[in-house]
Amino acid sequence: MTRVDAFRAAVDASVYSVRRAWGYAPTWLLRVIVGYLVLAVTPAAQVLVVSWLVETSGGTPREFVPPLVVLTVLLGLGQAMEQNTNLIGQRTANRLRARYQDELMRAVAALPPQRVGQAQTNATIQGCRSSLPDLGRLASSVVASAGALVTAAALCVSVWRISPVAGVLVVAALLPNLLVFAWDAKMQDAAFVPYGEWERRSEYAVEQLVGQRTATELATLGSGAVVAEVADTRRRTANAILDRILVLLTRTGTISGGGTAILLGGALAGVVVGGSGGAGIAAGIVGVLSGVAATRSAGFSFGDLISFAPKVRAYRQFVESVSHSVDTQIRSDAQSVDARRLTVTYPGSTEPAIRELSFSAEKGQIIALVGVNGAGKTTAINTVLGLLEPDAGVVAVDGVDATALPLAARLGYFGLLTQEFGRYEFTVRDTIRIGRPDGKATDDEIWQALDSAHAGDFVRRLGDGLDTQLGSQFGGVGLSGGQWQRLALARIYLRDAPIWILDEPTSAIDAEAEQQIFAELQRTRSDRITIVVSHRAWTLKGMDHIYVLDEGRIVEHGTYEQLITQQRRFSQIFAEQVA
Ligand SMILES: Nc1ncnc2c1ncn2[C@@H]1O[C@H](COP(=O)(O)OP(=O)(O)OP(=O)(O)O)[C@@H](O)[C@H]1O
Ligand SMILES: [Mg+2]
Repeated sequence: MTRVDAFRAAVDASVYSVRRAWGYAPTWLLRVIVGYLVLAVTPAAQVLVVSWLVETSGGTPREFVPPLVVLTVLLGLGQAMEQNTNLIGQRTANRLRARYQDELMRAVAALPPQRVGQAQTNATIQGCRSSLPDLGRLASSVVASAGALVTAAALCVSVWRISPVAGVLVVAALLPNLLVFAWDAKMQDAAFVPYGEWERRSEYAVEQLVGQRTATELATLGSGAVVAEVADTRRRTANAILDRILVLLTRTGTISGGGTAILLGGALAGVVVGGSGGAGIAAGIVGVLSGVAATRSAGFSFGDLISFAPKVRAYRQFVESVSHSVDTQIRSDAQSVDARRLTVTYPGSTEPAIRELSFSAEKGQIIALVGVNGAGKTTAINTVLGLLEPDAGVVAVDGVDATALPLAARLGYFGLLTQEFGRYEFTVRDTIRIGRPDGKATDDEIWQALDSAHAGDFVRRLGDGLDTQLGSQFGGVGLSGGQWQRLALARIYLRDAPIWILDEPTSAIDAEAEQQIFAELQRTRSDRITIVVSHRAWTLKGMDHIYVLDEGRIVEHGTYEQLITQQRRFSQIFAEQVA
């Protein structure tokens, strides 16, 4: 980024932030503007009044009291306005920050599943999150910078009368700061992603120490300090990235300070040489000294504009890269789903994880994918959903190639219970209603879903029913692993999509409840297509078709009875269980 680009970026960022502030908090923006405007014209007014005061100083009280009073009022006004404008600026910044944060989180929420959890995405999100306070402040900084320009122009005019050279030099004294901050922006721009990445890594380690599931494990292992050390090392790496910039900035800050001093020294010389009489010299000196203060605060606010500009650009790029236009809408119906000769290779792998894998199911059927760990079941499921792109093969829903649909629309066909289901420590109601994209569900619907997932009974025993806070980290109730899994299944019942994919839906659930859950799935099977991954032989008995995966291929398929009598891979895998 060249200096010109840095200035252009600063202008873009400034326009953007003021536009957003005007759209979201116009009265706050107006208050900030009024505050900085009063502050901006005060120094020049002081110059004029000082010159008036010096001229009348030898005269009668009638002559010198009015300028004295006016000057006192101006000084008081300057003090009070500075304090107030700062506070109003902070309150405005808090409001804007909340707004940007909400927008950022909505963009994160709208990310397509393939982008979620990727290193690049995480680093960018983290970078955006750490920029939120700066984004919030930016509009005030823009106004402060405009104020600084007004201050400089007004000082220039008032000092010009005393010495034109001094007037020009007072304005020129702003330049060294501007150049330094433009350079700073360039450095910050380059650091944005690596800094975000290391900060995210550090934060991840901290989350493991704090988050309940991992914190308990670490506490029992007694090895939390190891994770703390990991967090610390990562934080230091992030800091080192910033530190390099700060060291360079200190050097250039010193140089620009020198430049500013020389220009203002020149202005003082101009005043002393050119100022005719004591009044002019006194007023000129006040003007130049105000110029010192003005360049300092202008330096800070211009610095904000220039150094925040890369953050604004990264934020905008991210937020605008996420399309909010395709909402997931749950489909009302699907008659069939076909996976035809799917081959999938993970990035970085040489061997495909699944090869030429085909299976199909129709409405009303329950089919199963079985196989040992690593056989390729989850890979197959994720490809059907569209989360993985196959090297070859087609997924068809109702006979139509599913790639014809945007992913969000495609996902509207599916209700997926993943192996790594979420344990959301919200209220029961909130935990269940996220099964639907719009989050809308009546209490009756939620209870029905809970009952179908065999979670209704234990939820009824919780103190506040659907309003019970879950998770002990917020003072709520702790649940067992199987209870969490039943809630996850209840989300799928509430979602009620036409194709259900349940990846080991009862892995944490006791045998009795498992039986009831599968009986319920069988009872309501006619409403949907159900695809189940299961490691328990007996659950497979009532299935319409079972596909046996081995090393990414389907090696055998049929009904439970057929597979048992064939005495091949299926019988091998389940030998213990069916004996
Ligand atoms: N994100 C990934 N990147 C690279 N390889 C992966 C990834 N996920 C899975 N694999 C590999 O693909 C193969 C199939 O994994 P998959 O998760 O589909 O197995 P699975 O049948 O679901 O096993 P499990 O019963 O343990 O859930 C494995 O060899 C695994 O190492
Ligand atoms: Mg799996």
